[in-house]
Amino acid sequence: MSHHCLLFDRVHYRYPDGCEALRGVTLRLTHGEKAALVGANGTGKSTLLLHAAGLLLPTQGEVAVGGVGLTPRTLPSVRQTVGVVFQNPDNQLFMPTVEEDVAFGPANMGLTPDEIEQRVAAALEAVGASHLRKKSPYRLSGGQKRSVAIATVLSMEPAVLVLDEPTSDLDPRARRQTIELLRRFDHTMLVATHDLEMAAELCPRTIILRDGTVAADGPTTELFRDTALLEACALEQPCSMRR
Ligand SMILES: Nc1ncnc2c1ncn2[C@@H]1O[C@H](COP(=O)(O)OP(=O)(O)O)[C@@H](O)[C@H]1O
Ligand SMILES: [Mg+2]
Repeated sequence: MSHHCLLFDRVHYRYPDGCEALRGVTLRLTHGEKAALVGANGTGKSTLLLHAAGLLLPTQGEVAVGGVGLTPRTLPSVRQTVGVVFQNPDNQLFMPTVEEDVAFGPANMGLTPDEIEQRVAAALEAVGASHLRKKSPYRLSGGQKRSVAIATVLSMEPAVLVLDEPTSDLDPRARRQTIELLRRFDHTMLVATHDLEMAAELCPRTIILRDGTVAADGPTTELFRDTALLEACALEQPCSMRR
């Protein structure tokens, strides 16, 4: 089986305080698919992404990446297969310079200095941030931080990329650059977002969450035309689809 595929089988997750954030989520993402994960606040998008990245384990049901079921034993390998870009880049950037942040993952993978340098150069190039490599991440603009956060994940060459709200807090230009950047990737990609315009532009497929369950899963244009469905899920139809 391709290692670029992601499977959720009747996944439940209950936080230690008793909040049941996922209540039986089933979905399958195959090689090269780009899917948007949308839903009102608190419907479980971030919780689902944390499972995909192997940062949470289901309380019930199964998550598998590339056919490998997520268990405490398989977590280390799954974490190298799936790259996660957190909602807040400040949670991803913690080294004194951009290049050290981007080198951090490859260095942990035990690559040689030459290989690490190649990874860093390629990842920064891919996000258009080569000129920022000597800068401190703290001195970057919001859009630059987002690009560099994406580079820190790309440098590990993940098979699957999951992103949590990649366009939140970005001005229109930085948002546009981020969308164009993501569009160029041929990764299997799962993007949690409130930005339905971006979802419509970037992701042929959309999964709508409601109360920790999948309310709909299908072609983005079809789902976004269904105003009754969107309303039932507390979502607003993107302007570009209204006539
Ligand atoms: N660390 C946590 N502890 C307890 N409950 C949490 C925690 N994180 C999220 N939740 C709850 O889980 C549900 C889903 O949250 P989340 O996955 O963040 O949703 P979304 O990303 O769609 O806004 C919400 O009810 C939220 O309050
Ligand atoms: Mg969230």
